[in-house]
Amino acid sequence: MKALITGITGFAGSHLADHLLQLGYEVAGTIRSTSSLKHVSHIRSELQLFECDLTDEAAVENVIGILKPERVFHLAAQSFVPASWAAPMETIHNNLSGQIHLLEAMRKHCPASRILIACSSEEYGQVEGDEVPIKETNPLRPLSPYAVSKIAQNLLGYQYYKNYGIHAVCVRTFNHTGPRHGEQFVTSNFAKQIAEIEKGLKPPVLYVGNLEARRDFTDVRDIVRAYGLALDACDPGEVYNISSGTGREIREMLNILLGFSTTAIDIQEDAARLRPSDVKALIGDYTKFHRKTGWRPEISFEVTMLDLLNYWRQMLAQ
Ligand code: GDD
Repeated sequence: MKALITGITGFAGSHLADHLLQLGYEVAGTIRSTSSLKHVSHIRSELQLFECDLTDEAAVENVIGILKPERVFHLAAQSFVPASWAAPMETIHNNLSGQIHLLEAMRKHCPASRILIACSSEEYGQVEGDEVPIKETNPLRPLSPYAVSKIAQNLLGYQYYKNYGIHAVCVRTFNHTGPRHGEQFVTSNFAKQIAEIEKGLKPPVLYVGNLEARRDFTDVRDIVRAYGLALDACDPGEVYNISSGTGREIREMLNILLGFSTTAIDIQEDAARLRPSDVKALIGDYTKFHRKTGWRPEISFEVTMLDLLNYWRQMLAQ
């Protein structure tokens, strides 16, 4: 089975590459000229990498035409919510044009192939107290340009299935984390700050934003296992939540990380980390996905957090 991963050098993409190689897939990926290969250096010789900016229609068509992958895992995106307020058009353009180019190229060169579209719990946006845990049927009330871009990606999958029969499966993935997570995201940011403080690289003060938000965290290694199953077992044109079903305040996550720290640390709010609007609570119901695939998360949150902290400790030791 030949798989193409867009965003293969990123956080979830590199874990997905590890997973699919273990399952015996031939794995290819798209990279940009600026991409760092550090997350895939241990498997570099097993990968086929194509330099391809997804916003370049001809480049995408070329890769799909050459490779004709049976499975496409479309993970590449501008994925940091605050960046989408700073540059809304860039987020919308990146996230939509790349996907349209992929779908058009698949339509032309490999219409029987399957594509997984990585969408987001951010699509739900403003969620009322009695709507938690959130089902796929919940109204979408997006609170950021990023969320709007993900809703459009989701609907494009539906449209290409209905118009052209492309086997597109959308997953609304809730927060996920673990080793290699980008330092702009909250779990990784806090873990990195702790590792820096332990090493004496920073004074013992950890800067935070809104600690009251509640999020549903799953280990990235569980998430990529779900992605593999999604294209085997889920229905095209449908959308599935992938989540743990457990909500935690950001403060609770911070306390778990601090529990692993070897040094005393003060907490300080940094106003620059507060958002113009922050989704209060995102907790997902993954029953629909579980019924199709049997998947459930296996790695405990504490293990994920410790692995993430150890990842940063190792990075700083290098
Ligand atoms: N980044 C960050 N930094 N967030 C902070 C901080 C901080 O110092 N302090 C508190 N937070 C809060 C944010 O306000 C938000 O409520 C929550 O922590 C999570 O923030 P992020 O880790 O940046 O993730 P996100 O929820 O905005 O989005 C992530 O998850 C989505 C799935 O729900 C991203 O990975 C998205 O790409 C993904 O779609």
